[in-house]
Amino acid sequence: MKTVQTINELQNILYSNKGKTIGLVPTMGYLHEGHLALLNKAREENDIVVSSIFVNPAQFGPNEDLDRYPRDIEHDTELATKAGVDFLFVPSATEMYPFESGITIHVGELSTKLCGESRPGHFDGVLKVITKLFHLVQPTKAYFGQKDAQQLAIIETFVNAYNFPVQIERVSTVREADGLAKSSRNVFLSVKERSEAIHLFKGLTVATETWKETKDINEALNRGKSYIEQNTSGKIDYFEALSYPNLQPEFNHAEQILFATAVFFENARLIDNIIVDVKEV
Ligand code: PAJ
Repeated sequence: MKTVQTINELQNILYSNKGKTIGLVPTMGYLHEGHLALLNKAREENDIVVSSIFVNPAQFGPNEDLDRYPRDIEHDTELATKAGVDFLFVPSATEMYPFESGITIHVGELSTKLCGESRPGHFDGVLKVITKLFHLVQPTKAYFGQKDAQQLAIIETFVNAYNFPVQIERVSTVREADGLAKSSRNVFLSVKERSEAIHLFKGLTVATETWKETKDINEALNRGKSYIEQNTSGKIDYFEALSYPNLQPEFNHAEQILFATAVFFENARLIDNIIVDVKEV
């Protein structure tokens, strides 16, 4: 595996690999098995695998955890090598954003709900870096986790709406043995919070099971939300259901329903979700 730090080198390498299929896995590093699931799928499906590690300042708000976002480039390099990544792109912030163009991408309605509500500008920042990565790498396929379901929905919609020549691949959420979704931010949980954190997934399961039995969204949300309130010391940011991927509170014609939650613990805000296939219920 080769680590590449500059855009110039990356483009030279990709130019000399013209004609091959390229799988791109964008990440912010501190890799875990969730990321590895994306890398493995990319490895299976493409001639070349490019992954990026870039803690993207554009997607962090002023009071968020940009500075203390966990980093371990040595361990990441080892894991990426084992996963069969060909090129690991690790640019600096000035390499990615050498000047302020003053031109922004604004997500609009899809970013007004769920995580977007408490993280204004976050998804604009995600699309800023994703647009650059898509242009730089020109991947055949790009891989994203269902763990970040709103991010995935926004990227899928963006790519469709603006005809980016890339196929977006969804990868299911990888969990710890007890059900907690793997996340780079889990390291910020205290021992007590770590034991409580499994209740996000359990609360979501209470909601989806209730919905399957009753088809009553409000009842499902109430039961799921009170389950989390009773079993964790965290503060619920949201616990919601929306049609997927268009993220509307309208379920009559929905093929998929997203049940999603975010919970603030002392030093970490965790998210999780379950997507229910309406036809299979
Ligand atoms: P990051 O949080 O590092 O996640 C990188 C990719 O891994 C995302 O597509 C995310 O959904 C996926 N992922 C994370 N945890 C997962 C899990 N437990 N199971 C399956 N997939 C998981 O998401 C970002 O970085 C950034 O916003 C990024 C897309 C790189 C843009 O900066």
